Amino acid sequence: MERSMIKSILSNALKTKSPDELIATSKKSELKKTLNVFDLIVIGIGAVVGTGIFTIIGSAIQGGPEGVGAGPAVIVSMVLAVVACIFSALCYSEIAAMIPVAGSAYTYTYATMGEFMAWMVGWILMLEYAIGNITVASAWTGYFTQLLKGFKHILPDFVVNFPLWLRMDYRSIAAMCDKYGMDIHDKIPYIFGHIPVAMNLPAIALVLILTLLLIKGVKESTRFASVMVAVNLLIITSFIVVGAFYVKPENWTPFAPNGFSGIFMGAFLIFFAYIGFDAISTTAEETENPQRDLPIGILGTLFICTVLYIGVALVLTGTVPFGQIDTQAPIAHAMRYIQKDWFAGLISVGALCGLTSVLLIYQLGTTRILYAMSRDRFLPKSLRLIHKKFRTPHVLTWISGIVVIVCSLIMDLNISAELCNFGTFTSFIIICIAVLILRKTDPDRPRPFKVPFSPFFPILGIITCGGLMIYSMKFLTTSSLYFPLWLLMGVAIYAGYGYEQKRLEEKQKAQRTLKQPKVEV
Ligand code: ALA
Repeated sequence: MERSMIKSILSNALKTKSPDELIATSKKSELKKTLNVFDLIVIGIGAVVGTGIFTIIGSAIQGGPEGVGAGPAVIVSMVLAVVACIFSALCYSEIAAMIPVAGSAYTYTYATMGEFMAWMVGWILMLEYAIGNITVASAWTGYFTQLLKGFKHILPDFVVNFPLWLRMDYRSIAAMCDKYGMDIHDKIPYIFGHIPVAMNLPAIALVLILTLLLIKGVKESTRFASVMVAVNLLIITSFIVVGAFYVKPENWTPFAPNGFSGIFMGAFLIFFAYIGFDAISTTAEETENPQRDLPIGILGTLFICTVLYIGVALVLTGTVPFGQIDTQAPIAHAMRYIQKDWFAGLISVGALCGLTSVLLIYQLGTTRILYAMSRDRFLPKSLRLIHKKFRTPHVLTWISGIVVIVCSLIMDLNISAELCNFGTFTSFIIICIAVLILRKTDPDRPRPFKVPFSPFFPILGIITCGGLMIYSMKFLTTSSLYFPLWLLMGVAIYAGYGYEQKRLEEKQKAQRTLKQPKVEV
């Protein structure tokens, strides 16, 4: 390839979109502006409190297939994870208030690092949102099965113990058969004797219902989410209050059975529990007063969730001895451990509400990021069609739903959670870098909210997120392989589609400018 050609490709890939242009495009938005601070905090808590605190906390304490656990020191892991989040949350707040445009980290990267990085960030965000939702959908079915078991005296046996192949993906069933020495052919039917049939049917049904709800409207969806969030908060708070009476301080020793390794791996895993506050910034164009409300929504959510999580971790590790903490449904199990079976049932209801709202909000976030990417021509225009009656991007909403359903057939909970974490750490690092760049390139733009102690806080955000990510890659060999593959796929799509489309867009813009009549002064 000629040098001049390489130069031109590089300069195209580094072309940024000015914040003014981004804001101007968003002003033409057809999305309805209906959300206030309360809605944003509902979206935030709804997106944050879910699988992490109800399911993944068990693995963060006990360890998973590829890493050791933190033990009672999970509280330290939580503090580490939240510190990494706070720096990034402050950076999100600064940019979201300054450029209140749909698309979150994707849009902010466009303003600072150019079109190639913007596309890559959008692509990485799909790991956080769409792939993260596979984790949530799998965990949802786990708690749903628990709840059905709670009603075993009134429900028929075929409902309570419905077949594994209708509630789990193939990989999870295979792993389970491996672990317990069972024959997989007894558990799964095969079409033509070769093609295994296994699907997470409850999760598929739920994703379909949520897709329809999201098409109906974002306000309707947040109203639904607020009910879920209220039930969820009530049940978590009751767990803390009831459980506190059964805490035995001796359960907190040994405090860190696996030393720093356990604490860092715990922090990497429990980070999943904090993911979601950034979803607030994806709704910037649907917020009534984004400059004031976005920072309050983001930081408020993080504060409320941190207080709750520390409470849950203290009670969980204080009531159940380390080694006996469950990894499937640890919170419900803790209540059974202290002989409060009826309360364990209630916890399952709370968990289902929490997981449902996470799914709903993540699906909302996925479509809004894809919408912004399609508006920038990285994706075909036909995808961002707005529904005539409901004024929501219905084509993208369907696509996001179908992607989660299809991927849930082939991915399991652990791999999707780890990939989601890798994606989120990367996007957080990029946001911190974006703040530093914008402070240099656009110092005079009004900033309704400013990260304190810049550049130290953004740099600390980069170090904490990067450190946790690199450390965990040493152990998590499977997802550490998938992550670069995902990135390569992104590069290939940009090279094969996005790059050409952007040049076409430039040509059309230039032609339009030429056609405009000159005004004589
Ligand atoms: N923070 C979200 C959850 O824990 C992703 O489910």
